Amino acid sequence: LLVLIFSSVDIWGDGEDGITEENCRTDCRIVLMETIPEDLQQHLNARPNLPLFVGFHTLLDQAKHSIQVVSPVWNLRASEKEPVPSTGRQGHLLFQRLLNLKSRGVKLKIVSNLTNSAEQKILATHNAEIHLVNMTAFTRGGLHSSFWIVDRTHFYVGSADMDWRSFSKRKELGLMVYNCSCLALDLHRVFSFYWQLHDRDYIPSIWSRRVTALYGRHQALELELNNTPAVAYVSTSPDLFCAKERTRDVDAINHVMQSAKTFIFISVMDYLPLVSRYWSPLDEMIREAVVLRGIKVRLLISFWKNTHPLTFNFVTSLKSLCMQPYNCSLEVRFFSHKPQKDDIQHGLNHNKYMLTENALYIGTHNWVGDEFSNNGGVGLVVQMKNGGGKIMEQVKAAFERDWTSPYSKNLLGNKDRYNKYKHLHQVET
Ligand SMILES: *[C@@H]1O[C@H](CO)[C@@H](O)[C@H](O)[C@H]1NC(C)=O
Ligand SMILES: *[C@@H]1O[C@H](CO)[C@@H](O)[C@H](O)[C@H]1NC(C)=O
Ligand SMILES: *[C@@H]1O[C@H](CO)[C@@H](O)[C@H](O)[C@H]1NC(C)=O
Ligand SMILES: *[C@@H]1O[C@H](CO)[C@@H](O)[C@H](O)[C@H]1NC(C)=O
Repeated sequence: LLVLIFSSVDIWGDGEDGITEENCRTDCRIVLMETIPEDLQQHLNARPNLPLFVGFHTLLDQAKHSIQVVSPVWNLRASEKEPVPSTGRQGHLLFQRLLNLKSRGVKLKIVSNLTNSAEQKILATHNAEIHLVNMTAFTRGGLHSSFWIVDRTHFYVGSADMDWRSFSKRKELGLMVYNCSCLALDLHRVFSFYWQLHDRDYIPSIWSRRVTALYGRHQALELELNNTPAVAYVSTSPDLFCAKERTRDVDAINHVMQSAKTFIFISVMDYLPLVSRYWSPLDEMIREAVVLRGIKVRLLISFWKNTHPLTFNFVTSLKSLCMQPYNCSLEVRFFSHKPQKDDIQHGLNHNKYMLTENALYIGTHNWVGDEFSNNGGVGLVVQMKNGGGKIMEQVKAAFERDWTSPYSKNLLGNKDRYNKYKHLHQVET
């Protein structure tokens, strides 16, 4: 009986706007957006992309009926004791605009696993509807997905979440996709799935057709991105949250890596193939690409206060594969900005994406076993049909800009340098 109740629940908004799989739009506009903190701009501003907060304002401008938001954090208004740089006001502005949606007749729907968020409480008094997903009951993880859907037509996916730091302090990268209702419909199904988990502590054995995937690895959506033919789909994690047709995040990453012919560039905050035991999938994929297929791999990881010390051992192990006499190419660099007192996120590279010569995966997890196994997350795979395309060039330029910047350092095989940085960041060993 419970299963039946679950699967027959009507999902809010479905059909209300007349957008269906049959009449949805596939001629989309995709825009790369970044937050580059002021401090880092001196070296990272050569070819600036649009700032992320501009993208969120555009989404807010577009909204006519609904905005759906998933964010692991709600902290747009910095608390009083935190020193806020002038750009820190951006979070505040976004929050105000979310409060004002009510007067425009736009519904705000939020899913999160936070029970005690002051900002959610304020939004709720301004007509936001909030559903709690109790991740503790499912996987003991967190809900780390971070996306917006506007009118089931436009959406955002990326590393920035509803934290004022995402718009001023941390380095973030995300995609705004406009006029793309087919893909937005599929992301909406992920949202609807979360929405239905409200007040529940089990996953149905029979999934409602309205929350299963529309597209996936084996059946990607064909679309035009900025007038360039491409395919795309949405992936999710953990496994428990993937209905039969839904591609898992790790499989999406594998798919993108498998399709690479020349290079794979990865930019993530943390890299750690562990869940309390060795968690091999991503580590194996990298090894295979480098050694068996001769793909050039670059891994850009953040070096910050919470960097797990074993990170160095794991990436040293990866790098040792390409020791002489074997000729292959795997490079690792650590992105690090001088830490400020008691402020571990200042200048932090919070990016979470991977790029090849023809495809892009942008997700919400760090490449850490625990995250894929236990946390709710989403990924977006975009593959250009004829390779290249402007958006790919832009992401590649952003990666190369970071890679060659003075903030990216090769700390491996250089004990003094490593120790100096370790000391600087007080990495606990
Ligand atoms: C979440 O689930 C856990 C485990 O089932 C339970 O102990 C806890 O009370 C739940 N929290 C909320 C807010 O419902
Ligand atoms: C939400 O997720 C975090 C982990 O990211 C967890 O520590 C917290 O207890 C969760 N909250 C609830 C209410 O489940
Ligand atoms: C969406 O497409 C319409 C034309 O169909 C265009 O007028 C509008 O500017 C587009 N919206 C965005 C955000 O690009
Ligand atoms: C190693 O491979 C690169 C390109 O894959 C090539 O340019 C270089 O000459 C090779 N080096 C040796 C010693 O074979």
